[in-house]
Parts: sequence; structure tokens; C-alpha cells
Amino acid sequence: MADIAMLILEIIKCIPIPTCRCVDYHRKFKQDVEDLKSKLRDLNSKKKDVETQLQAEVCSQKQVKQQVEDWLQDAQRINVEIQQVEQRVDNASFLSQARLGKLVREKINVVDVILQRGSFPEGLVVDKPATALPLPVENLKGEVCVKKKIWGYLTGNEVPMIGVCGIGGVGKTTIMKHIHNELLLMESRFDNVIWVTVSYPLNVVRLQYEIAKGMNESLPKNEDEQRRASRLMQIMGRVKYVLILDDVWQRFTLKDVGIPSPTMENGCKLVITSRKVDVCKSLGCEIVKVSPLSKEESLSLFLDNVGSDILQVPKLEKIWKAMVKECAGLPLAIVVIAGSMKGVTDVYEWRHALNELRECVKATAEGSEDEIFERLKFSYDRLQESNIQNCFLSCSLYAKDYQIRKDDLVEQWIDEGLIEESGSRRAMLDKGRTILNRLENSCLLEKAYYYEDSIKMHDVVRDMALRIAHQVMVKARMGLTKIPDEHKWTENLEKVSLMQNEISDIPLNMCPYCPNLTTLMLQGNSKLTQIPDHFFANMQGIKCLNLSRTSIESLPNSISNLENLTTLVLQHCRQLKHVPCLAKLKALKKLDMFKAGMEVVPEGIDMLINLQYLDLWCPELVELSTQMLSNLSHLQHMAVYSKWTTLRIKGEEVRGLKKLETFQAQLYDLQDLNNYVKSSHFNRLSSYSLVVGQVENGFHLNLFSSKVISLGECEIGGQDGVVLPNDVQELWIYRCRKFRSLSDICSLQDTTKLRICLVLECEEIECVVDMVTSSSSFINNFEGLVPDKLPNLSVVADVEGVKATPPHIFSNLKIFWMRGCSRMKRLFPFELLQGLQNLESILVWDCQQMEEIIGWEGEEENHTADATTTTTFTLSKLKELNLWNLPELKKICSTRGVMVCDCLQGLQIKECPKLRKISLVGNVPPSPPAALKRIWIKQELWESLEWDDPNAKNVLQPFVDVL
Ligand SMILES: *[C@@H]1O[C@H](CO)[C@@H](O)[C@H](O)[C@H]1NC(C)=O
Ligand SMILES: *[C@@H]1O[C@H](CO)[C@@H](O)[C@H](O)[C@H]1NC(C)=O
Ligand SMILES: *[C@@H]1O[C@H](CO)[C@@H](O)[C@H](O)[C@H]1NC(C)=O
Ligand SMILES: *[C@@H]1O[C@H](CO)[C@@H](O)[C@H](O)[C@H]1NC(C)=O
Repeated sequence: MADIAMLILEIIKCIPIPTCRCVDYHRKFKQDVEDLKSKLRDLNSKKKDVETQLQAEVCSQKQVKQQVEDWLQDAQRINVEIQQVEQRVDNASFLSQARLGKLVREKINVVDVILQRGSFPEGLVVDKPATALPLPVENLKGEVCVKKKIWGYLTGNEVPMIGVCGIGGVGKTTIMKHIHNELLLMESRFDNVIWVTVSYPLNVVRLQYEIAKGMNESLPKNEDEQRRASRLMQIMGRVKYVLILDDVWQRFTLKDVGIPSPTMENGCKLVITSRKVDVCKSLGCEIVKVSPLSKEESLSLFLDNVGSDILQVPKLEKIWKAMVKECAGLPLAIVVIAGSMKGVTDVYEWRHALNELRECVKATAEGSEDEIFERLKFSYDRLQESNIQNCFLSCSLYAKDYQIRKDDLVEQWIDEGLIEESGSRRAMLDKGRTILNRLENSCLLEKAYYYEDSIKMHDVVRDMALRIAHQVMVKARMGLTKIPDEHKWTENLEKVSLMQNEISDIPLNMCPYCPNLTTLMLQGNSKLTQIPDHFFANMQGIKCLNLSRTSIESLPNSISNLENLTTLVLQHCRQLKHVPCLAKLKALKKLDMFKAGMEVVPEGIDMLINLQYLDLWCPELVELSTQMLSNLSHLQHMAVYSKWTTLRIKGEEVRGLKKLETFQAQLYDLQDLNNYVKSSHFNRLSSYSLVVGQVENGFHLNLFSSKVISLGECEIGGQDGVVLPNDVQELWIYRCRKFRSLSDICSLQDTTKLRICLVLECEEIECVVDMVTSSSSFINNFEGLVPDKLPNLSVVADVEGVKATPPHIFSNLKIFWMRGCSRMKRLFPFELLQGLQNLESILVWDCQQMEEIIGWEGEEENHTADATTTTTFTLSKLKELNLWNLPELKKICSTRGVMVCDCLQGLQIKECPKLRKISLVGNVPPSPPAALKRIWIKQELWESLEWDDPNAKNVLQPFVDVL
């Protein structure tokens, strides 16, 4: 349900007057956050128990079961993740809560799962085995001894500073994360445990702020470095800290940063992880070297990642074991190389791969950085096809540890021309996804854990990619406030990524000479207001330019001459008003101005005959000369939309665009829509969002469903009404006249995919569907239905006089949210209930006459022959029932009826002053709905409810949470 609910929430955020919903949604959100916190408390108390028990049981012959250790790690990890979520929650605006809400609920689920897995009836410890156990990737591999040693230093008194050294990919960070997490559990030993990832280059100011943040303190801004250092020194001097600095590359002195020296006396500890021993030595650290994995550990890690298929082929054994040997015990290399051999069972191919790998590693000296790089490069080489390799390299343009959305990445590949041109966009997107899967399968990219449908690059893999991709300058998300000096823009540069920095301006006379530059990524420098006119003058070869989410007001004139430019992305450049003539950009394939501030269409677009992708969804855009379209015969994707009704396109004007696949625009009128939908041009579209008439600012054209029709203020009922496409997935009807029910829209009968329907402010509509006059089978596809402000609506489905109600109407409906339907007295008659068995969420609010939610048609007495029988009303999947501001609501279901809804988790009742009965409790014996978690209700109202069985109140009482 979550998906549909989120989708509708996203959609209705845009409906006019969303405040009330937002406020209520906000409440739900806060409840979810509370829920999450309380779950986490449960988890942590369980964790404490396990740990206490472990302390008693672990001894020299016993060790913690892997499963228990994993569980503890998971429990710890989720703590950290939730902490991050909480930080985001604290700062979230109403609007961003919709997105966060999903995250919060995901985390609730994760905690649930961990909680469930947290019982170990067979004990927590096992006898120590003689040999090493197979260890999965995420867990510690072979570094148990190292960990012990570090742990010994941390808990002992002798060594205040520890340098954990080893080459990239050997597992330094993993070990320290384990230790960090365990330190967190030992609250009493240290006051503060601080983790800061330092990386290259060292930025002292950022380091100072991060350390202060880790101490939960803030440093004053705008002070000089030294003052800040002494302030930090003061703060840290007060506590007994452990400071872990991960991934340090350069020397520095503690004093310059403001870190008081850890000593035996003060008991503080400093741990540094670094690939460079001399960095650790220069600080005076005791060196702990992280050594590669043992042979057994390596073999088992390799097997875990390559898959057990290879064990079926005995001939392979020798080869793969030799291959593992070549991995030199480097966990990352083992994982990545195993990944690249996944699924291969052919002996020749294995032998060939072994030779190649040997070739790769021949020249590397043990212990050098090359050791890991050359092995990773083997996997890269095995990709074989250069376009796939280039796609891989392109990921390194994003910031370190950045979680890249898959859609964005594929789009980037298309923009850079890395995906072969083919007849259609769809085909290119599919190709891109295939490449992405290949990279993910070969472990060169990892699944990102925080966001769905995203990937990330291991930092060492990224380092390797940046080494291979010569002629690049990547300084993404590094806090730059100034653009790199002109001399850094060397002549041979091919790609430059400065995305997501704080660059605020570019010197007026700056004009880098980079004739070979093809890709320049400046997006996300939100403080950038101006680019000097000549900036691009010596970058004539540039193909792909991204300036999204900057605050530029005009594009520099030098853009006009970039004759090789193929992609210009200006998304969310809200300040952008002026764009020079684009007529000379003959190579341009993509012009993306989604949500840019333009009021007029840039001059010269009609000359861009190679354009394939045009997004002019600019809120302020006033009009468009449709003549320009006639030249753009290669367009595959076109979105043209603004808040003005003057910006309209006639269906026939796009018929010349034979390659169009995606079309989002406001059409001329209903007649135009009808004609267009019947045309063969329309039939070839794979995605559309078409609007007719005045619809409130921007609530349509959303990107949630790929086939959307929105109708505003037009006459749509009857034979001559609207012709809807059969495959429409989402329908908006706003202030439309002349129809009594959806059944009046003849063409709806032929739709087969319509899953979301929103009907807003239509005065004349009386019922959602009319079962009397038509079959209305289309409603069985609905998953979400939102009637909003329909003053004459009196029933959801009109079945009056119909002999037998078809048993399964609304059989797929999951979400039903109704607001402001003031004639409705009963939400669902009993007859309708049989169909509603998939309903998961009901929300009813602002309905002035609503008296009951479920009940009999007509007089109750007719249906209850025997005054002692109870009727059950079953909604077996209902999870939430929200009733807000229903001044006449008296009961949830009819007298002597009981709602049976075992999945119900939450019931929320607000402003329903006349409510007396909430029959939710089965009688013999009285029991609450099995999944019930909470009932939100005002104290007085709760006290004034009436109960058939006095026990029912007691049964529900524990769930009540007064508002
Ligand atoms: C919270 O929001 C404020 C104002 O938008 C911003 O200045 C601050 O940096 C944000 N803090 C975090 C932790 O995101
Ligand atoms: C951090 O500081 C805030 C306000 O000073 C305080 O409420 C909070 O409990 C502190 N958190 C920790 C972990 O010390
Ligand atoms: C630019 O690229 C061309 C072709 O790859 C190459 O021959 C030339 O040396 C490059 N120019 C510079 C300055 O690196
Ligand atoms: C533009 O691209 C063409 C074809 O790739 C190339 O021959 C030409 O040198 C490029 N122009 C510039 C100014 O780099």
C-alpha cells in the first residue's frame, strides 16, 4: 500500500488548500516517528540483554555465534541510521515529510525485522572452531586479531594514539566501524566517541566542524582558524574522548586542528586509519598493520561471492583457487574479482581469466597501492566492451560515497553519448539499465542502502576509476567555495565535475583553455549566480553541460557558439530568465529546462533540428510558437507546460513528430484531445500526460504514472463527452460539469489500466459509479480513489433497484480518501463490502452529514430479524481508518454490527463529537483487532463512547492514545 499511498500523497500535496491535509499528515508523520523511537527503545533494551548475557558467557573456549554477532551489528547499524533519519526529521519541512515518511516507515519495518530475529533459543555462544569460519562481505573478514589488538590499546592505558594502516580495500574502515559501534555500547569508559571521515584533501576547517558536531557542540562561524582551534581545544579538553579519523592521507598537527593530545593521564584516545604509514608515524601513533586475509578466509569469501556453481565443475577447482591466490588476501579485490566471474563455468574462460589476472598483477609490488588497483582493474578489463567501461568510469564523476539514482545515472550515460544511439529512447533506457545490472553484478557498483533504486561506488573502486579515467578533474561535493584556479584547468582535460559545491561566483575574466573538454558538470552549486560571458569561449568541444540547480539568471553568450554541444541541462534554474540565441547549436539533442524560470522560449530552438529531448516545463512560460515544432522531427520526448493557459498545443501540431514517445502538454480543448487520442500518432506514445482546460497550478503532469489525463472545467459526460485512451493509468477530473457519475463518461468503460482516479470540486456528480445504468467494470481496476469536495455526492455506488449487487465491485481498491462530500450519510452500504476486500486505507473528513461508515441500506430493523444476532462486517486488509471532522457521525457500523478487521493498525478519530459506537471488538471472548497498535481519540470522546459489552472498552483501553 505504501507506494500507492505515497503516490497519492505526493499528488494531493499539489491540490489547492492542502494545508489541512498537510497538518493531518504531519500528525501521522509525527506518530510514525514516535513509533520508530519506541521500537528502537525496545530493540536497544533487547540488545543490552544480549550483551549482558554475552559478557557472562564468552570465555576462552567459547565465542559469540556469528548469527548473534551479526544481529548485534544490525542492531547497532540501525541505531546509527535512525539517528541520521532523526536529524533529517528535525529539519524537515511539511513538504519533505511525505518523502521522509516513507523512510521512517521503512526503518520501522527494519527494526521490526531485527527485533524478530533477536531471539536465540539455542544460546548465544559456541565452542571455538579450529579453523576460520566463512565470513560474509559485510562482516569482519579475517581481521579478528587486529581488532583485538586495537581494542587492547583502546581499553588499556599505555597507547593513546593508534595508527591503523594497510592498503586500500584491506578492511581498515570496516574494522574501525565495528570498534566504533562497540565503543558506543561501553558508555561508561569514554564520554564521547567521535567518527570523522577525513579523505583527501584534508580540510582543517571542515575537520574542526565535524569534530565539534561529533561532540554535539557547535563552533562559531567566521572565526579564524586559530581561534576556532583553541575553542575546539577547550571543548575537547573537558571530556575523555575517542576520536577516530578515517581515511587520512596527509600529515597535520593536532594543535592546528585543536585536538588536545591524548595521553596516559587524560585517558583520551586517537585512532587514525590511513593507507600511509608515514602519516601515522608523523603523529606518533602506534602502528597496527591490517594484513590481508588468510588463505582459508580468502577462499571462502571468494566462494560466497562467485556462487557455488563452480563447485559443480571439479576441473575448475585448481583454477579458481589459483585465482584467489592472486588476490593477495585483499577482501575488496576478492569480492570484485569473484563478482566478475559470477556465472562463468567454462574451463577455458576461467583459465584465460587467470592468465589475464596474472598479467595484471605481475608488476605490482607487495604492499603498494598498485596492489589493489591492478586487481580491481582486472575486473574492469573483464567488462571488455569499451562503452560499458566508459559507463563505469562515468560514475566516478559523482561525489565520493554519493548514492546515485539509477535513473539519473542512465540519463547521464545517454547525455554523454555513452549509450549507442538507437531508434528510440525506450531502447536506450533499457540498454542503460542492462549495463547498470552488469556493473552491479560484477560488484564494481554496490547497491546503495539508504535510498531505493540507487547505487554507489566503493571509494577504493572509485579511486581506481579516477586513475583509469585520465584527463578528468573531479571535485564533487568537496565544499569548494571558489571555482578551481584557471591554471588547474589544464589543456588536456576531458571531463570536469564540480557538482554540489558552494561555488558562488566565477571570476569575470576567467576563460579556461580546454579544447578537449567534453563534459562539464556544475549542477548543485546553488549559490552560483553568474557565469562570465566568455567562460565557454575556449571550450568549443564541450558536449555535455549541466547547470541544474544553480541560481544563474542568464546563460553566458559564449554558449551560443558551442557547436558541438549535445546536452544542455538547466533543471530547477529558477532564476534563469535570459538565454542567448541557440540557433547555432545544431548538434544539440537534449535541452532540459524543467522548472527553469524562463518566461519566453529561447530564441533559435526551431533551428535545433537534431533535438530529441525537449523539456520546457517552465512554470512562467507564457507562450510557444507551435510553428517551431515542425522542424523538430527527431523529438522523442517533449514536455511543454506552464501555469498559463496560453501555453497550449494542438494535437495535430505534433503529428509531424514521428518519433515522439513521451508527450506532456496542455492540449487545446476537449475536442482536440478527443481527436488526438484517436490518432495513430497518439497510439505510438509510450508515456503521456495530457491536460485539457483550466486546472489548478501544476497539480497534474506529475511523473508518478506514465499515462495521465487531467481534465479541468470542461463538459465531459454523455456520448459527446471525452474520449479517454484505453490505457490511461491516472485520471484527474477537476471542476467538470454535466456528469452525474463516472459511469456517464462512456469512454471510461473501455479503460483497462486506470488505477488512480481523483475527482475534485465537481458540483453535479451524485455517485461515483452508477450500477443501475451501466456495468462500470472499469472501477475494478481502481487502486486509489479520491473524491474531493463533491457537494452533491450522496453514494459511492448507486445500486438502487439493481437486483443483485455485483459481488466484486472495487475489488482492487486499496485507498479510499474522501473529503468535503457534504451530502454523504453513509460511506459504504453493507452490499458494497464484499467487493472492498483489498481496501487498506480509509480516510473520511469534512463530510457534514456523514452518520455511519458501514451500514444497511434503508431501515436497520428490516435486516435484523433477531435482536440478539450480531452481524459482522469484514474488511480483512484494512490497516488504517481515519475519521476527521464528521459532526454527525454516530457510529462506525450499524447497531449490532461488528467490524472484523484483523489487519487494522490505527484508528484515528478527530472532531467527531457525536460518535458513540466504534464496534471493533469481537464478543466471545472480547478481543481487539489482532494488529491494532493505536487508537487516537480525545479523552472526553473516549469516555463518552457506549459499549454493548462493557469488557470491550477494557480490551481497547491499552491502545488508546489521547489526542
Ligand atoms: C536545517 O535547516 C536550516 C535552515 O533551512 C539549515 O540552515 C541547516 O543547515 C539545516 N541543518 C541540517 C542539519 O540539515
Ligand atoms: C546534544 O545537545 C542538545 C542540546 O544542547 C541536547 O539536547 C542533546 O541531548 C545532546 N545530545 C547528546 C547526544 O549529548
Ligand atoms: C586533444 O585530443 C586529441 C585527440 O584525442 C589529442 O590528439 C590532443 O593531444 C589533445 N589535446 C591536448 C591538449 O591534450
Ligand atoms: C566538433 O566535433 C567534430 C566532430 O566530432 C570535431 O571534428 C570538431 O573538431 C569539434 N569541434 C571542436 C571545436 O572541438
